[in-house]
Amino acid sequence: MPYDRPIRVAIIGLGRIYDLNILAYVDNPDVDVVALVDSNDERLLERSAEWPQAESFLSIDELASSGLAIDAVEVLLPIALHEQGVLACLANGWHVNLQKPFATDVASANRMIAAAKLAGRRLRVMENYIFYEPLLHLKRVVDQREIGTISGYVLKMVASGRGGWDVPGDTYQWQFEQAELGRGVLVFDDGWHKLATALWLFGPVREVRAWVGSTEVVPGISVDAPSTVVWEHENGIRGVWDITLAVDMYLRSDYYTNDERWEVTGRRGFARVNRCTGRGIQEPSFELYLDGEMRSQHALDDDWASSFRDSGRHWINWLRRGEGRLLYCAEESLEILKFALAIYESSAKGGIGVQPSSIN
Ligand SMILES: NC(=O)c1ccc[n+]([C@@H]2O[C@H](COP(=O)([O-])OP(=O)(O)OC[C@H]3O[C@@H](n4cnc5c(N)ncnc54)[C@H](O)[C@@H]3O)[C@@H](O)[C@H]2O)c1
Repeated sequence: MPYDRPIRVAIIGLGRIYDLNILAYVDNPDVDVVALVDSNDERLLERSAEWPQAESFLSIDELASSGLAIDAVEVLLPIALHEQGVLACLANGWHVNLQKPFATDVASANRMIAAAKLAGRRLRVMENYIFYEPLLHLKRVVDQREIGTISGYVLKMVASGRGGWDVPGDTYQWQFEQAELGRGVLVFDDGWHKLATALWLFGPVREVRAWVGSTEVVPGISVDAPSTVVWEHENGIRGVWDITLAVDMYLRSDYYTNDERWEVTGRRGFARVNRCTGRGIQEPSFELYLDGEMRSQHALDDDWASSFRDSGRHWINWLRRGEGRLLYCAEESLEILKFALAIYESSAKGGIGVQPSSIN
């Protein structure tokens, strides 16, 4: 049911990505941020200065027992705490906007989906890339067949070790623990977005073949690159995804040092997004090559942070007014998870073809 007043929101987890998620909430008349939750008391105190009207809590339980009225929560917790946090929030009757990756296995995702149904509340898994303006241009070109029938496409990610914003030590710590569990930062955590864009652009995937690598970057700590993944969509279009590590390369970035590109080839031309998170290639972020002519977009809002703002606003607007289709509901995010898990299964079995639909 739509709300006839601003939505009352609690933000749970005030770490690194909080800085971008809140862009949807700042100066937004559709929402009131009424509570902040973080188990780190110093961080809680620091962030509470940004929301003087919000009450602060050290845990979800503390918030629930305070009796403060909440409609929805923004869950920005480490992946290992997603299920526990989401189940607690749904049990309290709150709608949930959860950061990706949804979960580390299908059983966990299914428990969250079932809990949302039982509670009669909406569980969304937040995806920001599908709100990034250059990627929206790419989707339009693909959908309208401006480059002709699509022949195939390539995604590229280069993770570099120098540049970008500071990431707190405790954030790295849980990322490395995730990697130990076989859900690395490049293929699974950041990779989630690339898989989401593949499904968004070209629909369901029939089969995946993968080779997930590992490189020790400092003694005892490895990163999941080089990794190479190929897949075929049900419509026959094939995608290739190359993940490469350039540990000593400096990359200019306001955020993470991830150099990314998407290049789609059609029968008549190609279209590409030259960058996203970082500021790697200093060319227009979107280009279209057709009939011997390159067209470049010079005035796009290609700041990666804007995709967080727009993804969050989409959620708030959807909750407030109930209009249109929610991107992405939990059931759709389950398909992204199965895609990711098919990569691991394929790699573990020597790169054989694995159908995401067979993952359970
Ligand atoms: N969309 C994107 O591009 C993107 C980018 C980065 C991270 N993420 C995702 O966002 C989520 C958070 O990532 P991050 O980098 O901000 O992590 P982070 O570690 O910087 O922040 C997590 C916060 O949760 C707090 N916390 C931990 N346990 C808690 C508990 N039990 N109760 C309350 N608070 C607790 C920590 O103190 C910390 O402040 C992850 O799911 C991550 O994958 C998404």
